[in-house]
Amino acid sequence: MARQLEDKVMLITGGASGIGRATALACAREGAKLIIADMQMEGGQHTVHLITEHGGEAIFVRTDVSQAVEVQALISKAVETYGKLDCAHNNAGIGGSSAHTVEYPEDMWHQVIAINLTGVWLCMKYELDQMLPQGGGAIVNTASVAGLVGYPGASAYVASKHGVVGLTKTAALEYAKQGLRVNCVCPGYIATPMTALGMNDPTRLARIIAREPIGRVGTPEEVAEVVVWLCSDAASFVTGHTMAVDGGYVAQ
Ligand code: NAI
Repeated sequence: MARQLEDKVMLITGGASGIGRATALACAREGAKLIIADMQMEGGQHTVHLITEHGGEAIFVRTDVSQAVEVQALISKAVETYGKLDCAHNNAGIGGSSAHTVEYPEDMWHQVIAINLTGVWLCMKYELDQMLPQGGGAIVNTASVAGLVGYPGASAYVASKHGVVGLTKTAALEYAKQGLRVNCVCPGYIATPMTALGMNDPTRLARIIAREPIGRVGTPEEVAEVVVWLCSDAASFVTGHTMAVDGGYVAQ
């Protein structure tokens, strides 16, 4: 059977860990050549190792997605290495603090917005600039169920993820006639280093699972498979879509 991303060149931010790493491995399995971008050198290089030891192609580029010059350099490196850019998963993000709005630290607000929202916008800006003259491409942003509903104590995170949903719809409309598809995934509670605190505390975990219609938390691989599909030609009529990958959480 033909692989879903054969010879596609794909960039993944936040690829050193969690959902980004799982997506990188799934895309490599489907034939994509990967550019892994992250702040974490060791984790990023390990993702590359996991791909190349199975015969795949990948490079790591240390990148802070909140810095325009670093994002531009990242896209240049991708094109210099593989000659084009077909797909991108803009996934890097942080959780920020847990505090109600009045107590929420201002510096953390700025940091969360810079990485989770401005970072996605910068990546899209320079990816689209590369993809447009190529005649097309597919972008998948990682928002969250926190991009669809509110969460007390997470004002910056919720605002950033609602923003990612808005950026996704806007870019999808702007470039739909030019062969570019832009979608986002909205994961529910997924077991990754970001959620380790909750996963490792049995009382908190029981509380989280009690709110999950499917009766468990998700895996990064379950998000990765959706990203693969959204990037593939099988999703050729899907753009501007906000896809919950949440075990039914927002259906409640
Ligand atoms: P993670 O912490 O395992 O991975 C996030 C990666 O982003 C890390 O490797 C980190 O180094 C990288 N990163 C952080 N700031 C960066 C920056 N400025 N530049 C480049 N890379 C940076 O967490 P996870 O869970 O894999 O998160 C991935 C995405 O999924 C995030 O956007 C997160 O908000 C989102 N998400 C996660 C959920 C979960 O339950 N784990 C639920 C919904 C959304």
